[in-house]
Amino acid sequence: MRHFIGLREHRQLLSLLPALFKHALRRRSTQLCRDDRSYYITTPIFYVNASPHLGHLYSAVIADCLHRYKLLQGFKSQFATGTDEHGLKIQQAAEAAGKDPLTFCTDVSERFRHLFSSCNISYTDYIRTTQQRHRQAVEHFWSVLWNKGLIYKGSYEGWYSTQDESFLTPLQVSDALDSSGKEIKVSLESGHKVEWMKEENYMFRLSAFRSQLLDWLRGNPHAVQPERFQQAVLQLLQEDLPDLSVSRQRNRLQWGIPVPGDPEQTIYVWLDALVNYLTVAGYPHEHDQWWRVAHHVIGKDILKFHAVYWPAFLLGAGLPLPKTIYVHSHWTVEGKKMSKSVGNVVDPLECSQMFTTDGMRYFLLRQGVPDSDCDYTDNKVMKLLNAELADSLGGLLNRCTAPALNPAQVYPCFCPQSFPREQGGRAVEEDYHMLEAVKSLPAVVEKHYESMHMYKALEAISACVRQTNGFVQRHTPWKLDQRDSKDKRWQDTIVHVSLECLRIYGTLLQPIIPETSNKLLSRLGVQPEERSWAALNFLSRYQGLDCPFEGRALGVDSGVLFTRLGTQNVDKEKPKKTKKSANSK
Ligand code: MSP
Repeated sequence: MRHFIGLREHRQLLSLLPALFKHALRRRSTQLCRDDRSYYITTPIFYVNASPHLGHLYSAVIADCLHRYKLLQGFKSQFATGTDEHGLKIQQAAEAAGKDPLTFCTDVSERFRHLFSSCNISYTDYIRTTQQRHRQAVEHFWSVLWNKGLIYKGSYEGWYSTQDESFLTPLQVSDALDSSGKEIKVSLESGHKVEWMKEENYMFRLSAFRSQLLDWLRGNPHAVQPERFQQAVLQLLQEDLPDLSVSRQRNRLQWGIPVPGDPEQTIYVWLDALVNYLTVAGYPHEHDQWWRVAHHVIGKDILKFHAVYWPAFLLGAGLPLPKTIYVHSHWTVEGKKMSKSVGNVVDPLECSQMFTTDGMRYFLLRQGVPDSDCDYTDNKVMKLLNAELADSLGGLLNRCTAPALNPAQVYPCFCPQSFPREQGGRAVEEDYHMLEAVKSLPAVVEKHYESMHMYKALEAISACVRQTNGFVQRHTPWKLDQRDSKDKRWQDTIVHVSLECLRIYGTLLQPIIPETSNKLLSRLGVQPEERSWAALNFLSRYQGLDCPFEGRALGVDSGVLFTRLGTQNVDKEKPKKTKKSANSK
């Protein structure tokens, strides 16, 4: 039998169509978002005029942590770092070292690469701006801006800081005296010397982008994080935004990429350097997959370049803007700004040898507060690592795996009568609080990792470790009689709960201290495929579900988790200076 629909039903159906269509579209876009599991994180590329210092390692450790965290969440992640090798500063440093620029750059670039490999910085691409692939990307990018009429020939007259490779307005400079008492002008922001320059240059129409930049920031309140730096950029955009000189005369600057079509001019080093992020993404060819999910980690001193110039260049070239610009503050040493002239520059390689690689990573991320500057002292490192890694976390693992308490060397059984879901059994109020805290820990950590507040994530983990130690201490399982079946069940339950807590801590700490977490999880018998975010499932037996670890043999005992540090770890000749790179000024 055939069914006909009447005119009314037909109309009703038609009126439903837009809603159905919208619904289908919405489903498709959430579907796309859900499937969109790519992530691209970058560090700034490092100047090769001097050896790596603590601040450089800090930028790299933050980015590495974000990359590892995304991998644990099942994302495909790219992580780029590398070196910034062109510009006047590098040209002068190579001259001072009596080396040809490329040999000079290669030497220092290798030092950075060595530091990063030693500190488990798991980059997937190491870019050098002297590479051919980068030159092609920069030339292409320049041509796009040129063809759109966004670059024009003009002349620049004003202040320039070679140290910062930055142009400054008269309001951004002040008077100062140099070491010989001579009057000079310096940048208000960095304190570096500036010089007056007058040159024929190519200019970029930066002034035309003010309102688009404001729209971007207002429409994306988390584009620059933490919030105070977003405010700082908005403030910058209230000030004068003159067009930007994007080239230097070749006779002044030879060490750089020539302007396409005009060999008398060299491309400005910041334009050259910023394009590195695109080069790694595959620009100008297949760059979309990575470029649309790009996030940058930078220090506060290079905010203007990344949150004003870079987005303006990208808008000009018709490319998407980075998803997030994570900004961190600086490290001082014993209260002073790190500087070669003061001689207090901290060598991160030496530190990681003294305090271990994981020790340094933990310290930097636990003490580093993105919003404000932080101070480094050896003593602080030692105290923190002894308290939190050696005593608290290491002590907990040691207690729960010691043969006296765990003679069978297994993940023991959980007894739901000893620790029922409703209060009762032998568990007390504080134990229930602890379970709540550990259960919600992954979400807390996730939130803080996402906003680059690693110190808050570590604070939360550390508080939970203390609670678990308190739990063990409260119930003194070593005093229970293993021959009494009820006591034995309760003892096993205490150890089971503690090992479950340790498993959660070990999993969440992988992005911060990969070696120590690996040691911890291996000791618990947790297999590599059981270490992802999706495998967290804290204390499933308490929920009445199966626990894959129950009854499983522990992994081999490979010694203490983190060895306590003593004064023998700290070399007495303070402060540690970085090896003067061939060139340091
Ligand atoms: N080459 C530029 C970046 C170009 S990115 C397209 C540059 N290089 S740098 O070597 O001077 O700095 C690299 C990073 O180290 C920056 O994020 C900077 O903020 C960071 N640090 C430099 N000194 C620092 C501290 N004292 N403390 C923390 N980080 C600091 O800028």
